[in-house]
Amino acid sequence: MTEQTDAPTTDETVEPATGRRLRLSVIGTGYLGATHAAAMAELGFDVVGVDVDPAKVAALSAGEVPFYEPGLPELLVRGVDSGRLRFTTDLAEAAAFADVHFVCVGTPQRPGSNGADLRYVEAAFEGLAQHLTHDALLVGKSTVPVGTGARLAARVREIAPAGLRVELAWNPEFLREGKAVQDTLTPDRVVVGGASEWGDDLLRQVYARAVADGTPFIATDLPTAELVKVSANAFLATKISFINAISQVCDKAGADVTVLADALGHDVRIGRQFLNAGLGFGGGCLPKDIRALMHRAGELGADSLVDLMQDVDEINMWQRQRVIDMAVQACGGSVLNRRIGVLGAAFKPDTDDVRDSPALNVAAGLHLRGAQVVVFDPKAGDTGKRIFPSLTYGASTEEAVTGADVVLVLTEWPEFRTADPSALLELTKPGATVIDARNCLPVDAWREAGWTYRGLGAAR
Ligand code: UDX
Repeated sequence: MTEQTDAPTTDETVEPATGRRLRLSVIGTGYLGATHAAAMAELGFDVVGVDVDPAKVAALSAGEVPFYEPGLPELLVRGVDSGRLRFTTDLAEAAAFADVHFVCVGTPQRPGSNGADLRYVEAAFEGLAQHLTHDALLVGKSTVPVGTGARLAARVREIAPAGLRVELAWNPEFLREGKAVQDTLTPDRVVVGGASEWGDDLLRQVYARAVADGTPFIATDLPTAELVKVSANAFLATKISFINAISQVCDKAGADVTVLADALGHDVRIGRQFLNAGLGFGGGCLPKDIRALMHRAGELGADSLVDLMQDVDEINMWQRQRVIDMAVQACGGSVLNRRIGVLGAAFKPDTDDVRDSPALNVAAGLHLRGAQVVVFDPKAGDTGKRIFPSLTYGASTEEAVTGADVVLVLTEWPEFRTADPSALLELTKPGATVIDARNCLPVDAWREAGWTYRGLGAAR
């Protein structure tokens, strides 16, 4: 590899020991890794991103993001054009290049188990350790069961060439899809576990900009850092399932869960965020992370948490059945051969991600009951098609609702919230029902237009 002749800079990207810019590698270029790599280049570091998938590497190298994430394409192009950001499939190249390595590979749910599949994380740390040519800090960002970092640190020590200073730290990532760029450039907090003084210094350099802007930097041990991440997701999931359980009481008692959530939210101890009742949580993180936590807590004998997460998961999954039941009821007891328009396929707005999407789960459930389902999503039509090719996908809201007996709003995209209910009702069967499974529509406007409106825990 050719040594780069970096013009010395005065900013925080320069490594005091060498006088050159700090070099970073990012292993795994999914939502987390691609965003982290581009954001680090934006901050002025020299970055190499590594992925085992040559197609992904080719796309990213050409400045193309292989998924929908607002703001990321611009950041990526700027990084690649500046010469500070490149991508490769060669882990050895990254090991020889960088001072700090961020491991951002996936930890999916293991087939047939609630536990996390750690094979990609293990391969990344072992591969890096094997190929190191100089001192390096290996930093885990992937979400892992508590105890993983300590085990990997021992393994890395065994494998890394003798005589090198090679250390491991954990620096969990809290980014949200759809807001990944903002969350990476201006995080709420930086948590670092298990770093020595040397590792701590390096990571403070990486996050110098955010820290200077007031972002708290929390230095702790490995298990605490690992647990902060899963606890954050477990708490968010619990909040959502709590309000969904309350929405069931609201349905029975004739109360309005949205007004209730607004009122709760004024209490600063509670807060309004993550109290939107509806179809519940999905995506690539929350469901698998609470299950992995449940699994790990069980292994550790922490049974209260196992029971709590089991209830959170059950309430969440039940919301999907609840919406299917509402559609069946709206069709008079059977959806067989009835036309159902589904608005939304992504697990939430501003993403094309359909991993564990509640919307697609409901659409598929109705399809399997014999309904003629037409789905429309502004961004997730193609990703939806890949997972559920048997569903029909329309090209617009209008196409999805045309001839429908029932319309389901399953992802709260702005264009559904602001759609003209009168114009849409002209396209449906007469007397159509809308099931607003995200409680996101202006209820009065839809009712006034002539729709039969149903929400979850929505008394109005
Ligand atoms: C989540 C965490 O927020 C993030 O910190 C972590 O790093 C990864 O997991 P993300 O999966 O992008 O991020 O989605 P998030 O915005 O948290 O939403 C998760 C799910 O909860 C979505 O399906 C959303 O529709 C649902 N949700 C959210 C609700 O049902 N009600 C709410 O009030 C909020």
